[in-house]
Amino acid sequence: ETGYEHIILERRGRVGLITLNRPKALNALNDALMHEVVDAATGLDRDPEIGAIVLTGSERAFAAGADIREMAPQTYQDMYAADWFAGWNALTRLRTPLIAAVAGHALGGGCELAMMCDFILAADTAVFGQPEIRLGVIPGIGGSQRLTRAIGKAKAMEMVLTGRTMDAAEAERCGLVARVVPATRLLDEALATAATIAGMSAPVAMLAKEAVNAAFETTLAEGVHVERRLFHSTFALADQKEGMAAFLEKRAPRFENR
Ligand code: CAA
Repeated sequence: ETGYEHIILERRGRVGLITLNRPKALNALNDALMHEVVDAATGLDRDPEIGAIVLTGSERAFAAGADIREMAPQTYQDMYAADWFAGWNALTRLRTPLIAAVAGHALGGGCELAMMCDFILAADTAVFGQPEIRLGVIPGIGGSQRLTRAIGKAKAMEMVLTGRTMDAAEAERCGLVARVVPATRLLDEALATAATIAGMSAPVAMLAKEAVNAAFETTLAEGVHVERRLFHSTFALADQKEGMAAFLEKRAPRFENR
């Protein structure tokens, strides 16, 4: 699909695929790229024909961070007035499941963008890090918060304070990524995983995502309460009747997404 300069948007059946495409800058995240990603992702989110989204980069880099060239001359007033990076928050309002497929560098804003997705599938070549401190700044797209929640304080603090990176094996060990696959298989695995999700009932997948996300925003008792109410609400859906009937009739369900 056309109209984008820094990304490629494709539809593969019920899966939307957004590919970051600034190869000369290792997919550095400039302001224009942010607006394109948000525009493409929100468009896919509104499309009832799309049941899951994959966000990926290149073999060499998912994204090597926010665009240092663009940020270097900016003043405090510029950053504050623009509320720089706030636009990325739009991705957290998507209801369609969003998978990051990460190969190569996922540094700074690249790591943060991957962590804004619902989960990360990593190639064995993936490298994660929050090296901002080496540039005299700190993470600004949620890295200090999401990395800490994902891998715990000790590792997050060490990474944010030293800027050291971790490879895919360490990232899997400490729970930053769902799964590591050979680099040559990454996109196929991500698309297949997305297709699996897109084959579920779309409203139920949205409810499931909402329930898991509640774990990060609420107390345990509140989260369990939210989950139970969301579970009850699935009984208002035709897809609950279909899913359970299909099990009892020993056949595959045909979800109607309603
Ligand atoms: N911003 C702008 N341009 C970048 C970039 C970035 N984050 N990362 C890489 N590039 C550019 C390089 O400047 C270079 O451009 P030129 O060919 O015009 O010189 C091109 O991409 C290729 O990069 P390298 O030649 O450096 O490639 P390499 O393979 O030798 O090294 C790398 C790869 C280790 C990822 C190295 O590019 C690097 O360290 N990049 C910066 C990583 C970083 O510090 N990221 C954090 C950015 S700050 C941030 O993200 C703030 C936040 O919280 C959101």
